[in-house]
Amino acid sequence: MPPQINITNDLRLRQVFQTKALLMHRNERHLQLVRVNERRSIELTLPDPIAILLEDHGLQFELCDVLERIADGLPDNVDRTMSAAVVAVLRVGMPRHMRFEEEVLFPLLRLRAFWEDDLDHVLSQLELEHESDESFALEIADELEALAINGQAKNAEMLGYMLRGFFDSQRRHIEWENTIVIPLARRVLTHDDLHALRERLLDDTPSRRAHGSLLGLHEIIERAGGHGERRNTI
Ligand SMILES: [Fe+2]
Ligand SMILES: [Fe+2]
Repeated sequence: MPPQINITNDLRLRQVFQTKALLMHRNERHLQLVRVNERRSIELTLPDPIAILLEDHGLQFELCDVLERIADGLPDNVDRTMSAAVVAVLRVGMPRHMRFEEEVLFPLLRLRAFWEDDLDHVLSQLELEHESDESFALEIADELEALAINGQAKNAEMLGYMLRGFFDSQRRHIEWENTIVIPLARRVLTHDDLHALRERLLDDTPSRRAHGSLLGLHEIIERAGGHGERRNTI
């Protein structure tokens, strides 16, 4: 006698398998969507390296304001704590910012916007200014260190002259970068470029709040009650 086929049971089994397969497919699809959303939200919460650079420029404007206040207070009315804080920024924070631009940002801009007229000329000029500003900053740091320790500048007239020359050229330099470099970076840098910038900045993050950072100076200024109207950056 041939085996009897129980059609009802067979159909039920098929329905069970189909339902299971459908559920597994839905679960897999759901997991895929969750993973995509997680990736998107991680990317959305990652710091924007260009915004961090702009923030640094805002802090550099603050540094210029502090230097101007020191120059105005010479020879007798100078905040020694502020002078000591500025020394660390001139020796550590500013060079770190310049190296970031020269070693990471400018090479990427040269690569992605080689067709831009005058770009190489502009970036070369900014690099030259870094070189002269850095050695100027170190000279000023030595003078301000003596001022912070002794309460008197070695030569107040000369220091005033050096400070004014320095903050004037710094303000021009930052304006140029905010007007030309930052908008260009926003336009031409790829997702991978921004990742490379972010990696370098994150490497540097532990030291951003530490000794010599621009952010550290900002906190000292805030604790000291600010310094009047803050300049706006782009
Ligand atoms: Fe620069
Ligand atoms: Fe800069």
